[in-house]
Amino acid sequence: MDKHDLSIETRLAHAGLNPWENEGIPNIPVYHASTILKKNNQDAKNSDNKAGSSGKYGYGRTGTPTSNALEEALAEIYGMDGAVITSSGLSALTTVILTFAKQNGHMLVSDSVYSSGRRYLTETVPRFGVEVEFFNPRISGTDLAKLIKSNTTLIHLETPGSLTFELHDLPSLTSVARDFGVPTLLDNTWATALGLDCSEMGVDIVAEAITKYVGGHSDLMMGAIVANEPLFGQVQNEARQLGQCAGPDDIYLAMRGLHTLHLRLDRSMNSSIIVANWLKQQPEVLQVFHPALPDHPDHEIFKRDFKTGAGLFAFQLSAGESIGPDILIDHLKLFGKGASWGGFESLVQEAQVENHRSLEYPSEGTLIRLAIGAEDPNDLVQDLADGFNEMRRETSLEAR
Ligand SMILES: Cc1ncc(COP(=O)(O)O)c(C=O)c1O
Repeated sequence: MDKHDLSIETRLAHAGLNPWENEGIPNIPVYHASTILKKNNQDAKNSDNKAGSSGKYGYGRTGTPTSNALEEALAEIYGMDGAVITSSGLSALTTVILTFAKQNGHMLVSDSVYSSGRRYLTETVPRFGVEVEFFNPRISGTDLAKLIKSNTTLIHLETPGSLTFELHDLPSLTSVARDFGVPTLLDNTWATALGLDCSEMGVDIVAEAITKYVGGHSDLMMGAIVANEPLFGQVQNEARQLGQCAGPDDIYLAMRGLHTLHLRLDRSMNSSIIVANWLKQQPEVLQVFHPALPDHPDHEIFKRDFKTGAGLFAFQLSAGESIGPDILIDHLKLFGKGASWGGFESLVQEAQVENHRSLEYPSEGTLIRLAIGAEDPNDLVQDLADGFNEMRRETSLEAR
């Protein structure tokens, strides 16, 4: 049986495991290492050059059997040549951006990329003399072609976009980028390798916040960059130069999360549809932004490109500047108030879109983001119903 014929779910269950190199124990061993000893001086002098030294590993920061197992697993499920682990999802993005930052260069960035990555692009990258230009996430390939300049070194994409959930016409954008020889970076944290076949979509470099769905239990910070050669060698080199690495216990947890990713992602996505459909029926909800809903403006792209989706989405509450959003959010018992997503517990957060956009974004009311966890979706709906009722009660009292 060729492992490439197996479904991604089956490959996820086994990826990166090698029990017969580990006394038959299925899970990976956790190597705590900075020093890795060499047998003699020649080996020690060669330890940066894996081919010339005894053993594959030279120093804890540049790789151990523990980090190697997760990197191999991620490269395998993405069907790409290599993966490199970084300290966080943000550092995966900034490492790729820095790899392609060239003096007097130009980068094209979708306007709805993740906010902290965007801050690096607006505050740090210009210091290197790089011009950063934002474009509408729904841009066509033809219009993207008009923005590419002779000094464009990177096109940074994210689909769906952070907070506002627009989808790119990915195959069209990546094919234009390849025609011009400009590498594309896709933040694929929402869909993961399960939802989007990045190679098939023509993406050159994938960044994923392992912190979210792969970790899945709100207890670790990690990122990964996955790519094909020769770009992989370039980003791996940049990551090594920056000292990117993660601790072995966190890597172990991430690996554990990876094996059940499909179960958790399915649950989160299916429950989110139930919650999103309930929200759509509430008179105070102007719009629900979930690409898996048939009335999402990019739903046709979702059906065409995505194999599955995730349980992170947003809705627009008409309550505007009034006290409504605070009452609703504060009344929720099952939704934690906090950043992040992809964990077993549901979270709620009011989103300030206007602080994270360069192009004009038509905003009305209040945008609220929900991350749906592993709870029973009917309990989540009941919690929201109680919150909406309390909001109605208190706002009508205030209006008197
Ligand atoms: C889409 C997206 N990408 C990247 C990140 C950054 O991940 P981390 O928090 O691990 O740095 C986040 C975090 O919220 C995110 O939402």
